[in-house]
Amino acid sequence: MIRRALEARKSAYCPYSHFAVGACVECEDGSLYDGCNIENASYGACNCAERTAIFKAISEGHTRIVRIAVAGGKEGEDPSEYTYPCGICRQVLFEFGGEKTEVIPVISEEKALKTTMGELLPDAFGPDNLSKETD
Ligand code: THU
Repeated sequence: MIRRALEARKSAYCPYSHFAVGACVECEDGSLYDGCNIENASYGACNCAERTAIFKAISEGHTRIVRIAVAGGKEGEDPSEYTYPCGICRQVLFEFGGEKTEVIPVISEEKALKTTMGELLPDAFGPDNLSKETD
């Protein structure tokens, strides 16, 4: 997954920020999907690498994501710092994962960290909040 996130980063379309990101998600059955950030001249239409990978997985029929690796940094250079998912991506990840979903920020094949969605988005609002019967 680390290798795939680094490889996906090479496809980043980031002519505005020049910040290239790659991600790789693992689904419940072990299948993997990669993604990169895709920017737009209308900045609000930009999509993060994490959501590109998540949406590819969900659109192929998967419903649960257990792990995500993310590598980001200045376009044209190797990553030098860890990149964590932005707030919107954390919310989207929570929808298809949960507190135990692992997040793996990546600098290189030798340097990666591991944390969880429970750490990154505590007290998250998610599907359970809308499925409970209240009356
Ligand atoms: N970006 C990601 O793809 N993932 C992150 O976790 C942080 C930010 C992208 C969005 C935008 O294309 C560029 O990085 C700068 O924000």
